[in-house]
Amino acid sequence: MKPSILVTRAIFADVLERLAQYFEVDHNQADVQLDAAALKARLAGKAGVLANAADRIDQELVRDLPALRAVCNMAVGYNNLDVPALTAAGIVATNTPDVLTETTADFGWALLMAAARRVTESEHWLRAGKWQRWSYDMFLGVDLYGSTLGILGMGRIGQALARRAAGFGMTVLYHNRSRLPQEVEQSVNASYVGKDELLARADHLLLVLPYSAASHHAIGAAELARMKPSATLVNLARGGVVDDAALAEALREHRLFAAGLDVFEGEPAVHPGLLEVPNVVLTPHIASASERTRRAMAMLAADNLIAALDAGPDAGRPPSAINPEVLPRRR
Ligand code: DGY
Repeated sequence: MKPSILVTRAIFADVLERLAQYFEVDHNQADVQLDAAALKARLAGKAGVLANAADRIDQELVRDLPALRAVCNMAVGYNNLDVPALTAAGIVATNTPDVLTETTADFGWALLMAAARRVTESEHWLRAGKWQRWSYDMFLGVDLYGSTLGILGMGRIGQALARRAAGFGMTVLYHNRSRLPQEVEQSVNASYVGKDELLARADHLLLVLPYSAASHHAIGAAELARMKPSATLVNLARGGVVDDAALAEALREHRLFAAGLDVFEGEPAVHPGLLEVPNVVLTPHIASASERTRRAMAMLAADNLIAALDAGPDAGRPPSAINPEVLPRRR
């Protein structure tokens, strides 16, 4: 008998077909949002789950799911998973790194350019029929070319963002939990600085650090106060890395020039203060959303699940395990 799995959200049909070769698949192609109780009920008796970044899988949930052996996120971020609890229970956890790096970096630049050059603000104004004549000071923005780019969090996506800065003649500064080896710094043409210096010197600051208790409100009122009033801020990381209420206030009071946000505290809810200010570009967590990349993420999550549950050509060797130490003592 094939093991049973749950795919928590709607997904590409060919990915479901691939999973169905190995598993009894309980899917959710109607894309009904599963709350904690519904998720628990649907996971009962399942050996694996292909989860989404919004599915919280914690100690309390896994305690009641003795059959569960693999939790495979379709996301590179995995702050929705209680990894220590999964590891303690002998459950393999996986994510989808690499396949989304370049697409996400492209989108970071799209948000940055839109915010700094007031693309969406001026478009809304035009669509509202307000354009009567050209004038020299319409929608003056801030330049990217020749400016200083700050990157907070210098993993794969941070480095891909930095590489793109060469075309804009930018000075790139970064801060990270640990400094990159010198050859990597040189390859992306970025210099390490302390967080305070990064905040003070960046003309544009990109956030790509993972969310954790330690990075909660890494950018709050105090950090915003250290930034230049002419600076732009882009959050590609996770809601909660930025104090959205403090950011809305800084934008309203023009203590920060503009922001571009793809992630929000408590999303899909968005802080009402952000909806009221014109100098912020808001997108619904779509940084990795190109057809090719979302397909690659789904396929990688499926490959992880197939391997973690000992099926397919990579049986026992999921391509991107977060807790590989579990593999020798899996459930
Ligand atoms: C990721 O992969 O972490 C993206 O933010 C999508 O959730």
